[in-house]
Amino acid sequence: MGKTVLLCVTGCIAAYKACEITRGLQKAGVRVKVCMTEHATAFVGPTTFRALTHEEVAVDLFDNPSDPIHHISLAKEPDVVLVAPATANVLAQIAHGEAHDLLTTTVLATSAPVVVAPAMNVGMWQAEATQRNVSELEVRGYDIVRPASGYLACGDTGEGKLAEVDEIVSRTLLALETSCALEGERVLVTAGGTREAIDPVRYIGNRSSGKMGHAIARAAAAMGAQVTLVTAAQGQSIPFGVEGVRVESAAEMHDAVSSRFDQSTMLVCAAAVADYTPATVAPDKLSKSDGELTSIPLVKTADILADMSHVKGDRIVVGFAAETNNLVARAQTKLARKGCDAIVANDVSRTESTFGSDTNAVWWISGDESVELPCQGKQALAFELLKRAARLRQKKF
Ligand code: CTP
Repeated sequence: MGKTVLLCVTGCIAAYKACEITRGLQKAGVRVKVCMTEHATAFVGPTTFRALTHEEVAVDLFDNPSDPIHHISLAKEPDVVLVAPATANVLAQIAHGEAHDLLTTTVLATSAPVVVAPAMNVGMWQAEATQRNVSELEVRGYDIVRPASGYLACGDTGEGKLAEVDEIVSRTLLALETSCALEGERVLVTAGGTREAIDPVRYIGNRSSGKMGHAIARAAAAMGAQVTLVTAAQGQSIPFGVEGVRVESAAEMHDAVSSRFDQSTMLVCAAAVADYTPATVAPDKLSKSDGELTSIPLVKTADILADMSHVKGDRIVVGFAAETNNLVARAQTKLARKGCDAIVANDVSRTESTFGSDTNAVWWISGDESVELPCQGKQALAFELLKRAARLRQKKF
């Protein structure tokens, strides 16, 4: 397969199982590199992993004089990062973006998909703080291989035992497949709610946060694509490794997309684009003293999704449909009307999929399938949607 996994081992009695995980991944043809916390070395020595992997084992931030920024090269190299076993403490540090040592610094810096297999005492696992940290990581798109129930090293019985080695290996292999699903693709994504100027200080806008579109751009980059994000979202940063183009209005977004569409192989329109824009923009701030303003003449904006679908050729074009009623039927009609390959339909009247939330529950509607996807974090959903888009592209060739 020619792929690399960075196995991050933390200080827990289950650390010895990381040796079996290493073997399992190697048997599948994966190159394994190991990074350990100082505490982990109290359970298994780096020499063991050095012998198993034939690679240097990374423990200390400063232990590689030939590479002064070791955590960044470690973070960039792997196709997937696997944290196994993950203690409650390391889970908390990762969830809060803390970077105390080489391992947590590397996990924070990586843009590769991350798989986490926690192991700890049942009380620590079930603690509200740990569960919140796990949910936070799931929302961010981390794959959590939940611990099993059983007899624990401390003598308690319950949830907390590291999941089976086979389960951890196969979930990591799945993540590896995802990490290269868009290799060679050039993905263009639109995100955020456009703003249509009325005058220099006022605009017509909508409630879109841009989180879904930015999550799609981040996922596409993690899946190996070259990504350009055309975004009207105000409060969202451009994901690492993604080319960002900031726009404001529907017309600017149309221009930015159409000028880049030729060089792309896939377009995902997640933006909430205004359908109408003021016919004219007042050059100065409108004031009541200028006279009563009771209406603003509007003109229709150009439909980016429909226009690009019209000339898409071999490209895959995916649109979104935010609806409040008759979700599937309306989305199917929209799919046919716009001429795209698939529509992701969400019911924005539901709290878990409303504008601005971190989760989304959607239907994937393409020519031959209408599937309801379970409610999940927007980052995890982004990976799922792109895997489906990648399958549509494979079908074309
Ligand atoms: N869209 C677009 N350009 C527009 C309007 C919409 O690219 N001018 C895209 C959105 O990014 C989304 C899809 O079209 O992917 C559906 O948007 P939506 O607002 O739900 O559809 P409309 O065409 O506006 O239909 P309606 O308002 O009748 O529901």
